[in-house]
Amino acid sequence: MPILELNSVSKRYGALTVTDDVSFSLEEGATLGIIGPNRGGKSTLFNLIGGTDRVNEGAVLFQGRDVTRTGAADRCHAGIARSFQIPHPFVGMTVFENLLVADAFGTTERHAREDRCRNILDQTGLLPKANRPAGSLTLLERKRLELARALATDPKLLLLDEIAGGLTEGECKSLVETIKSIRDRGVSIIWIEHIVHALTAVVERLIVIDYGKVIADGAPADVMALPVVKEIYLGIDLDEQAA
Ligand SMILES: Nc1ncnc2c1ncn2[C@@H]1O[C@H](COP(=O)(O)OP(=O)(O)OP(=O)(O)O)[C@@H](O)[C@H]1O
Ligand SMILES: [Mg+2]
Repeated sequence: MPILELNSVSKRYGALTVTDDVSFSLEEGATLGIIGPNRGGKSTLFNLIGGTDRVNEGAVLFQGRDVTRTGAADRCHAGIARSFQIPHPFVGMTVFENLLVADAFGTTERHAREDRCRNILDQTGLLPKANRPAGSLTLLERKRLELARALATDPKLLLLDEIAGGLTEGECKSLVETIKSIRDRGVSIIWIEHIVHALTAVVERLIVIDYGKVIADGAPADVMALPVVKEIYLGIDLDEQAA
C-alpha cells in the first residue's frame, strides 16, 4: 500500500489555480524530489498534504486512510511531518523546548522523550545550542531546527521544503548526509529543493511542477534530460539553441 496518494487534487486562491489536478502516489520508504519554477505551487502542495490548507477538489490518502478533511495536528500525529520554507520556531523558547513541543504532537509515547530530543539535536548539529532561545539562532540554524522539529514527531513521511536553501556547499553536503541517514532508517521523504545536485544525491524519483501541474515524473536523470524541463526549469531557450 502506498504511504501517500494524491488523487486529482486541486487548490484555488480566488481566480488563481495553484494546484491543478495533481495525482501521484508514494511507496512506503520511497524518496521523491520536487522541483519547479518559483511560485509554481510546490509549497502549496505540502500545505495540502500536511493539512495546513485544504483542497478544493480531490483526495489525500495517508497509509490508505482518507485524510482530506483531517487537520494538521491529526495528520502530524498520524506520522506526517514537515519543515517550513520560512522557519517559524517558538522564538521565546529554547531550542530544546521547541523539540519537546514538536514531540508532544508526534507519533511516539511520552517515555524517553528528553533522550530522543537530545539525540535529534545531536543528529542535526544543534546540541551545543540546546539551551539557547530559538529566537537567537541564525537562519541556517533555524533551518536545522525545522528539520529537528519535524524529526521530533517521529514521522513516517517527512516533507522538506527548501531546507538546503542558503547553505554553503559544505553545510549542504553535511545536510545531505543527515537526510540520507533519515532515509536509510525507512522514513519516506518528499523534498522540495532548487539545489538539484543535493536532491538527486538522496531521491530516487523526481517530479516537476509548473503552474500547479505535474509536467514530469520519473528517475532524476531521465527527468532532468527532458527538453521541457531544460526549458522551463533551467531557463534554456530551445528555439534559441536550435537557431
Ligand atoms: N494563502 C494564499 N493566498 C493566496 N495566494 C497564495 C497563497 N499561498 C500561495 N499563494 C500563491 O500561490 C502560488 C504558488 O505559491 P507556492 O508558495 O506554492 O509556490 P512555490 O512553488 O513553493 O514557490 P517558491 O519556489 O517561490 O517557494 C503563488 O502565486 C502564491 O502567491
Ligand atoms: Mg515554496
